[in-house]
Amino acid sequence: MTTQLTLIKGDITNQSVDAIVNAANSSLMGGGGVDGAIHRKGGAAILDACKEIRRTQWRGGLPTGKAVLTTAGALPAQAVIHTVGPIYKQDRERAPSLLRACVSSSLTLAHTSNLRTIAFPAISTGVYGYPMREAATLMRDESQQYIDTHPEAFDEIRFVLFDDRALQIFQDVWS
Ligand code: APR
Repeated sequence: MTTQLTLIKGDITNQSVDAIVNAANSSLMGGGGVDGAIHRKGGAAILDACKEIRRTQWRGGLPTGKAVLTTAGALPAQAVIHTVGPIYKQDRERAPSLLRACVSSSLTLAHTSNLRTIAFPAISTGVYGYPMREAATLMRDESQQYIDTHPEAFDEIRFVLFDDRALQIFQDVWS
């Protein structure tokens, strides 16, 4: 059994996988970019689930590097894993380990939820300003490390890049 590590150009909301990862903020109340697209297309069920998580688990908001699971609502995926990436300029020192934590937390949550195909956006590389090349390297390394230690966990880990530039950078880093 080998885990497919794939790179595609596309829209995370269109992915027919078990789980898609949302680049959320700590409020879990939605936003722009990936977050906005997922809530807009997934519908109110996602926001309702996020509100319930805030009410019962994370009253002060979801900390950077953590991940939570909700329904995917009207999206083709089965579930959404919301994670909060680091804001690059806010904490350069800890940004790399926090971005790694987003990947490992999301993979751990998918694994324990028996979700065998998962799609990531390039977390933190938009509004949160993380340099694309560094993010691509960290996300690949963290994914490979998880696969090496849990070879049976996933059938596919997919990275969905929104434009040609991002795809090219991920391909360069990964080749
Ligand atoms: N599918 C795949 N990738 C996308 C999509 C999409 N529909 N929309 C944007 N992207 C890409 C962006 O081009 C960027 O490379 O996802 C990457 C992450 O960008 P953001 O969505 O801005 O996420 P992030 O940088 O983590 O900032 C999070 O932005 O939307 C708000 O509520 C969110 O406050 C949070 C912050």
